[in-house]
Amino acid sequence: MQRIAVMTGGGDAPGLNAALRAVALAAHGRGWECLGVRASFNGLLDNGGGGVVPLPPDAVQGIGHLGGTILGTTNRADPFRWPPPGGRGEIDRSDDVLAACARHGIEALVMIGGDGTLRIAAGLHRKGLPVVGVPKTIDGDVAGAGVTLGFASAVAFATEAIDRLHCSAQSHRRVMVVEVMGRYAGWIALHAGLAGGAHAILLPEIPFDLAAVTRLLAERDARNRPDDIVVVAEGARPVRGQLFVADPAVPGRSERLGGVGAHVARQLELLTGKESRAVVLGHLLRGGSPVAADRVAALRLGDAAVQALAEGRAGVMMTLNGDVPGAIPLEEVSTWRVPVDHPLLRTARSLGVCLGE
Ligand code: F6P
Repeated sequence: MQRIAVMTGGGDAPGLNAALRAVALAAHGRGWECLGVRASFNGLLDNGGGGVVPLPPDAVQGIGHLGGTILGTTNRADPFRWPPPGGRGEIDRSDDVLAACARHGIEALVMIGGDGTLRIAAGLHRKGLPVVGVPKTIDGDVAGAGVTLGFASAVAFATEAIDRLHCSAQSHRRVMVVEVMGRYAGWIALHAGLAGGAHAILLPEIPFDLAAVTRLLAERDARNRPDDIVVVAEGARPVRGQLFVADPAVPGRSERLGGVGAHVARQLELLTGKESRAVVLGHLLRGGSPVAADRVAALRLGDAAVQALAEGRAGVMMTLNGDVPGAIPLEEVSTWRVPVDHPLLRTARSLGVCLGE
């Protein structure tokens, strides 16, 4: 092997730069050249996409603590469903990706991304390009990954936000509803809600009944406990209700979720008579410096990805379960929702946290 490339796909997440640094340094340590693909697949498929840039050790010096990505931008574009120039619909440009890699002398690709990016990685690997995946998403919902880069940082930020919102809840005797990201899975809501001492946590996996939350808040009121905190994942929906969509899907992009926090606050105000406010953390969760746990995981996963290529083990996603590194076939990557009998849910119920059931 002489030259590999690394790229990111999907939404930004704290830890991308630390992972890029690890891949570049581990490749350099083996005497390989490492290129960075700018702007996800645009760098390979679109002349204006910024192309590829060399990533010698100096280019990745001092970036491990930075949020965002040094590769310009990241996005969800899929070469198997590429928007044709100026037109509607989608065309398959995966062969062009392979041709671009050949043109740049790229022998293998490390792809850092969530389930969407990792599915693309599987497709490219199937077509003959050696690819290794590194799991990244603040949502923490890649099955088998253990760690997904950005999740720990997002949970830390959301927890701090909840800690701060307790003040307003107490000072004004209000219900504070905190909406966090989490389209399909409620991992951020569950972890941050528990860590921040939320009284109710509403998840995409458990359709919620606000009558249950109202009962809990009434009990708390009876005990003169005014500081109500409700954490809700953007993908949570009421029993027999729909997802809250802020903006419908257009070709090549999923619908934008949003609005469930405002709905819950409005309804709880009506049902409890208590003043309620909604706060949407949204993209704040994806920005800023990665926490130490994300940085260390990024370094380990990036290094492991290069090691897998060196050992001829492409076609896998690197994993980190607890302290145990591993790999699973890219073909097996799927989304991991909170199972209804997950131990954290049992803990929440046992501590009297309302899950809207
Ligand atoms: O990374 C996944 C995610 O955080 C989802 O929870 C959320 O729905 C989505 O990103 C929003 O991304 P964007 O606003 O970039 O389309």
